[in-house]
Amino acid sequence: MTIFLLLLIAYLIGSIPSGLWIGKIFFNTDIREHGSGNLGATNTFRILGKKAGLVVTFMDVLKGTAAVLLPLIPFFAAANIHPLILGITAVIGHMFPIFASFRGGKAVATSAGVVLGYAPMLFIILFIVFFLTLKLSKIVSLTSMVAASVALIYSIVYYFVTGDYALFILIFFLFSFIMYRHRANIKRIKDGTEPKVKWL
Ligand code: G3P
Repeated sequence: MTIFLLLLIAYLIGSIPSGLWIGKIFFNTDIREHGSGNLGATNTFRILGKKAGLVVTFMDVLKGTAAVLLPLIPFFAAANIHPLILGITAVIGHMFPIFASFRGGKAVATSAGVVLGYAPMLFIILFIVFFLTLKLSKIVSLTSMVAASVALIYSIVYYFVTGDYALFILIFFLFSFIMYRHRANIKRIKDGTEPKVKWL
């Protein structure tokens, strides 16, 4: 019962549609009707500007971190569930949010939050990789996929070095979600029509 409650809470946390709510409350805009149509931080930057983009990035990252840390709440301490299952559940909520007609984001920021909560060292590496790749390519989707690939490689190396496969399983799921949700971006990158950021 406690496990079911934890999964439900993780899904509901992930479902919080930050970009939709910030857009509607402060700009009277549904960002899914503009730009890439994605309910994510990148499209928020694109449509609503830097301040809104930063707030949505922070909120979406926080969703993943909060879900992974749920078992630290004393009430849930006895629940026998791996925190990474809660992280993956939150990312599913982010992609298919009950509060936004199941039309959510592409899993990047919330996945980053899960990594931050579970493997902070990897988060720092990915943050640097993300920044450098974005600086060079100026394409956020490509940058997201490069960071996801680096995370996958890191998790494989980590498994061979430590024998701990939990991180690999987590990253395998997150990597698969991210690649699948970027199908349209991959096509645009191949066609040379994927938009570039102007502010970096
Ligand atoms: O965070 C998602 C990003 O990788 C791509 O977003 O709006 O350019 O499709 P977008």
